[in-house]
Amino acid sequence: MLGVFMAQQKAPAQVDAHALAAQRIALGKQLFNDAHLSADGSIRCASCHMPDKDYTDGRRVAIGIGGHAGTRNTPSLLTLAISQDTSFFWDGRRQALQEAVLDPLTNPVEMGLHDQAELLQRIQQNPAYQIAFAQAFPESKQALVPGNIAIALASYVQSLRPAESAYDRYALRGDKTALNPRALLGLGIFQGKGRCAECHLLQGSPATLTDHAFHRTGVGLDGIAPDLPRLTQEVIRRSLQGGAIGNRVATHADEAQLGRFNVTQDPADIGLFRTPSLRDVANTAPYMHDGSVATLDDAIDREVYYRSLQAGHPLQLTVEEREDLKAFLQEL
Ligand code: HEC
Ligand code: HEC
Repeated sequence: MLGVFMAQQKAPAQVDAHALAAQRIALGKQLFNDAHLSADGSIRCASCHMPDKDYTDGRRVAIGIGGHAGTRNTPSLLTLAISQDTSFFWDGRRQALQEAVLDPLTNPVEMGLHDQAELLQRIQQNPAYQIAFAQAFPESKQALVPGNIAIALASYVQSLRPAESAYDRYALRGDKTALNPRALLGLGIFQGKGRCAECHLLQGSPATLTDHAFHRTGVGLDGIAPDLPRLTQEVIRRSLQGGAIGNRVATHADEAQLGRFNVTQDPADIGLFRTPSLRDVANTAPYMHDGSVATLDDAIDREVYYRSLQAGHPLQLTVEEREDLKAFLQEL
């Protein structure tokens, strides 16, 4: 009897957890699409993470309030859950998604709010939010707090999943016809002599296509090389003054090119960036942390050149082989 009783008790609780998760995702989606959460009411998360562009914006660098340009290319949010990222942003400056989702709201060139108090004020002005927060966070005495805003936004972002790709069908379902002959040759190069899979890992289901690590890219470093001593000093000086790394990076293009150094201030980290997942990569041009590479062909050429330079094994790929590689990337 006890077993039956417990089973009956348990079932509604599980349903509730599921319903609660769905409510948080729905609330996060509403916040994601709300332009009132920006200083001048013109920018929402979806202004830069556009659903019809794989949650990127197709621009070289992001454009926020007042038409201000940032310094970095907007990454796709579709890759986030499946790549199981453990750090966020191109330089990995955040370790928790719940921290990362709040940063754009107070970034001066993204959504431009003064602080989290202003964010709360704006959300409180909308009675529908008061109700939605109370429903989505029934256990909180005070449901409308930054921590819960972060949970709602992170729940929504994590719920985004790309459609099944041809490579998923090939690798996960064993459908050997899912990749066309050209893409199959490309896969061979990606894993083999191209050595792409050393960083864009094929492990995971679906494949993460990143190693979650940071590497020197060569992209953007040439422009700042003569100025390196001054720039590194500037980063250290400004970091001592406090303030969010993201705000500094988005407003100082030269310093942004120092990559992971902005986070660790370790000279070994100058010019290192997080390996991006290549999921849906054919749809997310332009490429690289600064959006400086316009097309997938150019991105492949750059990677082939810089990676072989770095590894010390010059890599010769014919035009045909580059086309194969591209055909494979188009199926991810
Ligand atoms: C003005 C354009 C813009 C707006 C608005 C914007 N983002 Fe972003 N987002 C970016 C850019 C650019 C980056 C990369 C910044 C960097 O790496 O320095 C980014 C990165 C992220 C990341 C990290 C992704 C990763 O792979 O590491 C998350 C999560 C994110 N944004 C969520 C949001 C949410 C949630 C909102 C709304 C509250 C938002 N963004 C608003 C442009 C924008
Ligand atoms: C040593 C690690 C490493 C290897 C090997 C590597 N990549 Fe990358 N890849 C990266 C990093 C790091 C970036 C980001 C660079 C940046 O933004 O400056 C990147 C960026 C890219 C991008 C742009 C993605 C985007 O969303 O902007 C493409 C495309 C790409 N790589 C393809 C390849 C191909 C093809 C190969 C094999 C020829 C390869 N990579 C080998 C680490 C690597």
